[in-house]
Amino acid sequence: MSKDITRRSVLKAFGALGAAASLDSVGSLFGAESMLMPKKVDKLSGEPVLTVAHCADPQFGFAGVDYGPHLERCERLIDVVNAAGPDVVFFAGDMCDDKNDLQKDWPRLLERIKPPVLVAPGNHDIYDPVVRKDVEAYCAIFGADYESLTINGWKIVVVNSQYCRDTDETELYEKQVEWFTKELTEAKASGTPVILGSHVPPFVNELDEEDDYFNFPSAIRRDYLEYARQHGCRFCLAGHTHTTLEREYEGVKLLNSETTSLNFDERPFGFRMLKIDAEMNYEWNFVGLD
Ligand SMILES: [Fe+2]
Repeated sequence: MSKDITRRSVLKAFGALGAAASLDSVGSLFGAESMLMPKKVDKLSGEPVLTVAHCADPQFGFAGVDYGPHLERCERLIDVVNAAGPDVVFFAGDMCDDKNDLQKDWPRLLERIKPPVLVAPGNHDIYDPVVRKDVEAYCAIFGADYESLTINGWKIVVVNSQYCRDTDETELYEKQVEWFTKELTEAKASGTPVILGSHVPPFVNELDEEDDYFNFPSAIRRDYLEYARQHGCRFCLAGHTHTTLEREYEGVKLLNSETTSLNFDERPFGFRMLKIDAEMNYEWNFVGLD
């Protein structure tokens, strides 16, 4: 299939999301309580309804070096996460630097993590452009390249953002779009707020920024976020940039955690603990590993 046809197909599918978004009325979403948008606090005054360990880019062997220290730091992260006991653990991808290393340690590490784990594939786990054999190799280790979990009244929907890049795997791509729309439509129908997880963040600094390596293509960015927002998405958790980010789209919080491999912004190694209460107040506090 030619690149041009593939590209059109990709845009057509996401264009459908945009059209669906524009037909929705935000006012008809949920009841008044569910219309709340997240409000950040330093410390929740009561108990959280949901706690998510947000981890990014363990990327063992980043740039071809330091596999051992990256692995060792991730082992420590797992100990800290297990001791903290969040409701769920989310890894925002780039589990290894080289996709061929994924089977070395991750099967064992996944076994060690006590809470339920969701993993979004990174561009070092399933390379650009997506090919079926890479998806199958990834799924053999992590179970799926996109998945959801409903827990404590929230739905966490993790997508394979490698499909934001041009690919000839149209069938696989469209299968994810179909799944994604079904998941979000069901969440909206049941009034369940959503956390979206991905490796690539929708944008890095602002919605209208130029396309580059670190963001969703501008052709689909706004449609994706608007569709998600209108279907109850309140947080987008990601990695990929190796910088810590807090951004917002129409009240939806876009958060990128510190990594355990390399932080370009010189933040210390660690992860974020997202805690959300029933009033949609949230903490997103750093947990260091030193
Ligand atoms: Fe990375």
